[in-house]
Amino acid sequence: MARSKTTFFCRNCGAESAKWLGRCPSCGEWNTFVEEPSSARKEKSSGGNLLASEPPRTLDQIEEQEESRVHTHDPEFDRVLGGGLVPGSMVLLGGEPGIGKSTLALQVALNMKHRKLLYISGEESLHQIKMRASRVAASPGDCLFANSTSLEQILDFLDQERPGMVVIDSIQTISTDSLEATTGSVSQIRECTARLLRYAKTTHTTFLLIGHITKDGILAGPKVLEHMVDTVLLFEGDPHHLYRVLRAQKNRFGSTAEMGIYSMGAKGLQAVTNPSELLVSPHDEHLSGVGIASTIDGLRPFLIEVQALVSSAVYGTPQRSCTGFDVRRLNMLLAVLEKRAGFRLGSKDVFLNIAGGLRVEDPAIDLGVVAAILSSSLDIPIPPGCCFAAEVGLSGEIRPVGRIEQRIQEAEKMGLTSLFMAKANHARLERAFPSMRFIPLGKVEHLVKALFSRSRTNPSEETA
Ligand code: TYD
Ligand code: MG
Repeated sequence: MARSKTTFFCRNCGAESAKWLGRCPSCGEWNTFVEEPSSARKEKSSGGNLLASEPPRTLDQIEEQEESRVHTHDPEFDRVLGGGLVPGSMVLLGGEPGIGKSTLALQVALNMKHRKLLYISGEESLHQIKMRASRVAASPGDCLFANSTSLEQILDFLDQERPGMVVIDSIQTISTDSLEATTGSVSQIRECTARLLRYAKTTHTTFLLIGHITKDGILAGPKVLEHMVDTVLLFEGDPHHLYRVLRAQKNRFGSTAEMGIYSMGAKGLQAVTNPSELLVSPHDEHLSGVGIASTIDGLRPFLIEVQALVSSAVYGTPQRSCTGFDVRRLNMLLAVLEKRAGFRLGSKDVFLNIAGGLRVEDPAIDLGVVAAILSSSLDIPIPPGCCFAAEVGLSGEIRPVGRIEQRIQEAEKMGLTSLFMAKANHARLERAFPSMRFIPLGKVEHLVKALFSRSRTNPSEETA
């Protein structure tokens, strides 16, 4: 018997090569080529026409169509999708194992009572699913469940049941007989997705595919998967914390700026409608090293608590460690403090933590980070009611940030009374927010003075 031929595929982007390559010429990643059988690839079903074929026409001749949306009854999920699911679309829900993808998909499926739904699991037994369903949902609904890892069997189920929406948990566990490659291989994932996509587009069925992400952050499976589907949602968060963030990484039907926040509890995932309330813990006694920053993620402003601990290094090399914040940015801010404000932090250990397990990339929290570090280093608490929103530049300049009004509104809503910000952001704010006290700053060294000369006088005396 002739040995079947093999081809090498890039695990990252799906590029093919006849021989193994150390570096993918297409996406530039190292060490991503894997060997897979290629003999059965003749029956390649990708290609062909997925969309209704009509002759070319001008824009005038194309009728406008209101995009209908199916609401999932989960306000966070709907918002991240751009207003609900678009019928016939294929949505990929990616995330690290254990983050809560199956739970989210199950909750969405059980909530969408007015649609015929089919939930296919290749990962958990129907028994396990039932147990989880009874934890998360009050009423079971009429969603259909099946175990399968075979694409052909799934397509049979679809022909029999003709559901309006299908959940596949997960795309990495299903495979087709028409390929020799093993389950979870690049060619299997690509082929199965292509066949499901064809079904979705020809029958107008909505698909929610679950995909695992490897530790290094790529969808286990080729990047081509991301190109094939309409929407890629990422479910992230620190598994040891309660909070989970849902973001759209790609969305053909909406913006990628939106994010949804959930908390994982004993009854599954709960939408967090007021993140500030949960992320900023009310402290009765005022602790040093805690600063509140006003951040915007996606379109939503919320407050976060930055915690810093500065202590003398016990070992020779001082440690710098961050949770939820970029450690290189922390090093940069420490260098700025050292050089511009004369704080000797070079021999100190500095630990920084964003409370709640969220990752924040908004540069507007720089000033809050700096304030928390100074507060810990001097061991003086930041006066109550203070909030920070500004970027810090390399020369120690305090830089303005976008959408300052929204940040102020959020701070006001949460009962904060003073905002430290960039001078350049300050114009005309006093009239718009009469109850907020603004402390405009030009340079980082001014922060030290503004914060800690204030704390020497009792702030309650100041208002009296
Ligand atoms: P799961 O949805 O299985 O994650 P994934 O599909 O992304 O691998 O959920 C993982 C974790 O969520 C699991 O460790 C247990 C936890 N969990 C709760 O804390 N409460 C709940 O009600 C449920 C259903 C799960
Ligand atoms: Mg799962």
